[in-house]
Amino acid sequence: MTFDLSPRANPRPLDVSDEAPSRGLVSRIPGFYTKTLAERLEQLFELGLLSEGACDHLARGGGLSIDVADHMSENVVACHGLPLSVALNFRVQGRDVLVPMAVEEPSVVAAASNAARLLRPAGGFEGHATEPIMTAQVQFDDVPDVPGVTARVEAHRAEILRLADEAIPGMVRRGGGARDLEVRVPSPEHDLVVVHLYVHVGDAMGANIVDSVAEAVAPRLAELVGGRRGLRILTNLPLRRRVSVRARVSSETLGGEEVADAIARASRFAELDPYRAVTHNKGFMNGVDAVAVALGQDFRSLEAGAHAYASLSGRYLPLATWRRTSDGLSGEAELPMAVGTVGGATGAHPGVRVAFELLAVDSARELALVMASAGLASNLAALRALATEGIQRGHMRLHARKSELRETAGGER
Ligand code: MEV
Repeated sequence: MTFDLSPRANPRPLDVSDEAPSRGLVSRIPGFYTKTLAERLEQLFELGLLSEGACDHLARGGGLSIDVADHMSENVVACHGLPLSVALNFRVQGRDVLVPMAVEEPSVVAAASNAARLLRPAGGFEGHATEPIMTAQVQFDDVPDVPGVTARVEAHRAEILRLADEAIPGMVRRGGGARDLEVRVPSPEHDLVVVHLYVHVGDAMGANIVDSVAEAVAPRLAELVGGRRGLRILTNLPLRRRVSVRARVSSETLGGEEVADAIARASRFAELDPYRAVTHNKGFMNGVDAVAVALGQDFRSLEAGAHAYASLSGRYLPLATWRRTSDGLSGEAELPMAVGTVGGATGAHPGVRVAFELLAVDSARELALVMASAGLASNLAALRALATEGIQRGHMRLHARKSELRETAGGER
């Protein structure tokens, strides 16, 4: 398929809703799913969301060339494909966004888009992302004087933070750098001491940056702490880098008081039963991961951090909850979110670059807000389906579509 950008003899008017656009874009595009692939690309081009080059890339199938792939990993034999979609109807912090998603599971994109549509009338998603502070850990075992360690390290705080900054001059130039340190004794009955370094990583995911910091400060810390030095590595539970989002929906929009009640009960079920909470969180992460994969983020680190955060109280809890309000439901979610708009696959992978072009976020913090919103939308969609007709009807419809595909592709194996 070639993307044909030539002007049409009779151009069709764009089929977008007449809502007041924010920053020029309206993410509500009725009937987008009924269009052909070429028409969808054309619409994204006409909306000014994709450049001609990006459209051409997607029209040729998108993704990654085998040559680039060969440089990204080892023992490469081919490229592995996933559908790249856009979720519609999202408004995040008053800005409409089209949300790129790459996921193999049918219904994730449609479900998130539907929930985002329900949440639009009350303003969509609002939230807050903290400063992008990542955490590095340096481990020491068999520490001789554990009670005195904190004072010894604290007395050299400025020196250690300076050493940390010297290891990442580029990040310091860009406004980031070491911000804080903390001495932890995770298990007082063992002579284990862990020093945390907190580093502002700008718009990067930050793993390499904080790993460099951990390695740079470890020798001086070893002199102050004593014992045997162990690991120097980030933690995938970056508690100082969190995002929270909330959204509201009226009972009327949801389909009635009974539906709103049933969703609130489903949320309470997850709060009281970890077996349910894990499935509830899986549905939330459907949205987060789909965006993460489309944008070349480290979804393993996001998953690890999210589930650790869910268990932080000692009980595994839902990342998102829904409560009854006087006229409907209000939902909120919070989790650590280490994502970047620079570095990693963001520069190397052409499909990822196109997905960023589409999303048009200005910072890693804005990206975190969009990803958490995608999670909250996915969670609402799942709870609404489960609390009403059940999940299977929609799944079976989509399953039938997949079976059709298999037959077209040469029969079921
Ligand atoms: C399936 O991918 C996700 C759900 O199981 C989530 C949930 O049960 O809340 C439907």
